[in-house]
Amino acid sequence: MLANLATTPFPRMANAKPKIVADKVRMSFGRVNAIEDVTCTIGEQEFVSIIGPSGCGKSTFLYLIAGFEKSSGGTISVNGTTVTRPGPDRGVVFQEFVLFPWRTVLRNITLGLEIQKVPRREAEERARKWIRLTGLSGFEDAYPATLSGGMKQRVAIARALTYEPEVLLLDEPFGALDVQTKNYMIRDLQNLWIEANKTIVMVTHSVEEAVLMADRVLVFGARPSSIVADVRIDLPHPRTVDDRRLREYQAEVTAVLSAEVDRSMSLERAHPA
Ligand SMILES: Nc1ncnc2c1ncn2[C@@H]1O[C@H](COP(=O)(O)OP(=O)(O)OP(=O)(O)O)[C@@H](O)[C@H]1O
Ligand SMILES: [Mg+2]
Repeated sequence: MLANLATTPFPRMANAKPKIVADKVRMSFGRVNAIEDVTCTIGEQEFVSIIGPSGCGKSTFLYLIAGFEKSSGGTISVNGTTVTRPGPDRGVVFQEFVLFPWRTVLRNITLGLEIQKVPRREAEERARKWIRLTGLSGFEDAYPATLSGGMKQRVAIARALTYEPEVLLLDEPFGALDVQTKNYMIRDLQNLWIEANKTIVMVTHSVEEAVLMADRVLVFGARPSSIVADVRIDLPHPRTVDDRRLREYQAEVTAVLSAEVDRSMSLERAHPA
């Protein structure tokens, strides 16, 4: 994705300034109590992964940070300001990438800027930068139907980045990709993060992905959820899958996650939704 792949270890940022602060966040949808109490601080330029049983409220939490939903209780702040609506400081890539089939790659990426009334020339200039950095050069005039799944996902990521958000929120960004494409995208996203200085929050179902990419893995418990584990992955970036130390972290996260998945299943059986 990026021209110069970073090869130097990325400095640890244990004392990073708080970027996202969630304080006693609660969320219910009618009778469904999705999130009970999520409290956490995500540092500036940190890469945090969220993992947890299906339906435990991971996407909901991401959309609360994005400002698409209003919480039932508690607060979320970004840069010290309470989130009340979406804003250009936060870019979102949805669980299912949504591209407009009648618009070219370039026009899909400039769409948000057009809505914000950014002049066309400036919008295109900003879009072209991210087209280049996400490896889409040459496909500016292609239509989504002619792109592979991985390329569509790159368009979705480029679109989110064209706002130049400080925070990138990713909801299972590799869910729909084959293993090979996924591995390329994982490497690219790590490099993008290292070079573009973003704060990234990524929801995933994969312990391997979470541990491979993130500084910290937050494990959400069974619904109504709260954070049951906060595991710091103390290894330099970029990481490669064959690093043996990753396996110990994977085992640690898997142990907590499996217990929560089991608990989630038995709760479902006792109180079906
Ligand atoms: N708009 C909504 N209206 C009603 N219920 C909702 C809404 N959004 C989410 N929920 C419910 O809230 C709970 C959490 O949903 P959410 O999509 O956040 O889970 P998730 O952890 O992202 O799950 P998955 O891993 O399957 O994507 C679920 O029980 C879901 O049915
Ligand atoms: Mg989800």
